[in-house]
Amino acid sequence: MKIALASDHAAYDMKEKIKEFLNSREIEWEDFGTFSNDSVDYPDFAIPAAESVAGNYSDIGIIICGTGIGMSIAANKVKGVRAALCCTEDTAILSRQHNNANVLCFGARTNSWENAQIMITAFLTTEFEGDRHIRRLDKIQSYEC
Ligand code: RB5
Repeated sequence: MKIALASDHAAYDMKEKIKEFLNSREIEWEDFGTFSNDSVDYPDFAIPAAESVAGNYSDIGIIICGTGIGMSIAANKVKGVRAALCCTEDTAILSRQHNNANVLCFGARTNSWENAQIMITAFLTTEFEGDRHIRRLDKIQSYEC
């Protein structure tokens, strides 16, 4: 399992904590930036991480900003990416079970570190349920703008 990580400046500190969290569980990651608290533009980091997932260079992504909103909007522009903006353990579980989400997004300014760890754990340990959800996801995947 390899995880693509990305954040903007607002979530840089939490991204560093996520690396320690993954290291302690011996989970491989690749960091797509940002690499400091200096102000940056979140699409510059969301899109490369999302492309890593879409291209199967990473199994999943965890990409975060102040609210998680900008990161999720940007990541979902990449075909094959299903980025879920989560805020609770339940939404993280359901994003895997029903949406087969392959990128977890959340806000570093809107979630405690405790909740972040709970959501990451739920996302990493929950399987897609398949069945009727496959049909629904196929309708998204086949949509052309
Ligand atoms: C940065 O100030 C903030 O706008 C960004 O982290 C994010 O919340 C955008 O969606």
